[in-house]
Order: sequence, then C-alpha cells, then structure tokens
Amino acid sequence: MKGHAVAGPSLALIKYWGKRSTADNTPATGSLAVTLSGLESRTEVSFDDRDSVVVNGEEQPIDRFLPFLDGLKAGLDLENRGLAVKSTNNFPTAAGLASSSSGFAALAGAVAALAGSEAPPSKLSALARLGSGSATRPIYGGFTVFDAGALAAEPEQGESFWPDFRVVLCVVREGAKATSSRKGMESSRLTSPYYQPWVDSSPALLAEARNALSHRDWSRLGPLVRQSYLRMFGTMFSSEPPLIYWQPESLALIQTLEALRREGFTAYETMDAGPQVKVFCPAAQAVELVAELDRRVPGLRYLTAAPGPGLRTWRTPGEV
Ligand code: PMV
Repeated sequence: MKGHAVAGPSLALIKYWGKRSTADNTPATGSLAVTLSGLESRTEVSFDDRDSVVVNGEEQPIDRFLPFLDGLKAGLDLENRGLAVKSTNNFPTAAGLASSSSGFAALAGAVAALAGSEAPPSKLSALARLGSGSATRPIYGGFTVFDAGALAAEPEQGESFWPDFRVVLCVVREGAKATSSRKGMESSRLTSPYYQPWVDSSPALLAEARNALSHRDWSRLGPLVRQSYLRMFGTMFSSEPPLIYWQPESLALIQTLEALRREGFTAYETMDAGPQVKVFCPAAQAVELVAELDRRVPGLRYLTAAPGPGLRTWRTPGEV
C-alpha cells in the first residue's frame, strides 16, 4: 500500500514565534494563518525495512526526521515499521515560504493514510505539530488559528469565506534559509530582551485580528498584520547573535508597499524566517500590484495565491 497526501503552505497573518514548551512543540504566541491554494507539498509513503526521506529527489539526513517519524508511528500504531517517504514541493523549499508547514502536514497525512487511520483532523493537526508548529494549521483550509499553548490548530473561517482575498508572494531569494525557525525562535526566547514583551502583547493582536477577519475588514486587519511581523522581527534583530533574515530587496519591497498604500493600494505585507515578502491584497488589485512592484523592485519572481483547501489524503495499492 501507499499513503498519499497533498497540503498547501500555511502563511501566518499573526505570527507564531517562540515555544511555550520545546518538548511538546507548543507555541508561546497564538497565530492566525491562511492555507494557500496552488502551492503544495505532495507526499507519498510506503512501508520499507528502514526509514528514509527524499525531498524534491534528494535523500535527506534522516536524523532530522526521526523524532517526527517516531512520533507519527507511536500515534498511529506503526511502531517498528520502516517508512519510505517521498515528497515534492512545487515552490522554493526552506526559504521562508512555509514549506515546513505544508511538508510536515502532508507527511502526517500520508502516514495516516498508509496506516488506514480514521484519525480526525484534530489528531492529524496534533501529530503534524511534532514536525513543525506551523504544520498544525494547513490540515484545515481557509483561515486557521493555532492558539498559544495549544496542541492543535483549529479552523477559523472556511476556504470560501473571503473570495476577494489574495496573497502575492515576492520571491527575493530561492535558496534555503540560513537559520531554521526552530533554532531562531529558541535563540530569540533565550537572548532577546524584547521576547517577553512580544509574547505578552501577542494575545491582543490575535484577538483584534480575528475580529477584523470576521468582518473582512482590510483597513483594520492590514495594520495588525504589519504590527505582528515587525514586532516578531524586533525579537529577531535583538537576539544574540542577531537574526537578520532580510535582504536589501526585502526592505525595498517594504518601502515600496508603504508608497503604494499612499497611492491607494490596499496591500499589507508580512515576512517569515526568510527574505521573502508576502503581500495580502484584494483580488482586483493583485495584477496591478505585481506590475507596480516589478517596475519598482525589478528582477524578482512573483506568485499569487488565494485561500486554499486543507489536507487531502488517499491510499493506493502498491508494491509491499
Ligand atoms: O513552525 P515553524 O518552525 O514553521 O515556524 C513558523 C514561524 C513563522 O513562519 C515565522 C511564523 C508562523 O506563524 O508561521
């Protein structure tokens, strides 16, 4: 048998940065995110005599995946089985485009499918957490919340809740990032004097953003989105050693968006643990926004996505 799964990346509007418990991989700050359409991690898993993980055709050092695979096996009654995992992303991997969220969600789903498990989404979300906190979220489509201290994410608004919602992903660099979010957020927790204020101020941001989202209110949601990522970067810049994920083009895009807002665009950016800039905007502005960004910050690759579906899984017969 083979287990299969497809998941889209989960892009946070309100950010998770910092762990409440490193052992349980629970977040110190709650996040509000959107699962994206069009971009996907596609994973297939079969039983084998040993564990192996191949991502985009390249075999990965297995040590990185063993704790996660062991957690999945324990949760799905597959102890003592070897798993051969093959996964592909149709977008840049480990570069701050949330490939860990879709990758670990798809892996949890594919292993559950292989096991013939009827696990509910809440259990799949909790299992995905063992790989990466953000992977709890794209088990569900549309908008999701992963609360501080929670074991699993929850659906917030469905995929078709806000048909006018678009995300423009500005790809500044294609290569993998220098410091993983796992290491980076631990470093911020241990060394940044701004970490605790970040954690303390985050529930109010999350609550206000949920409310703004429920009203599909760009003018309230947009500034909250910007506050969240800029406060998060405050803890990154002030970590020791400093975490500087930005590239010159990242700042150029941030400043260009400031100008474009003054010119009437409804466009609000966010960033993650990488140099890419992601811009939320109404569907009717997306094409013109990309044209303006491309004109003012030339040479980058742009992708446009909408809220997408949650995890899809299935099982097929195959060689044993
Ligand atoms: O769970 P991870 O390791 O993919 O960390 C996600 C961290 C951010 O992308 C910066 C924020 C978020 O909420 O997705």
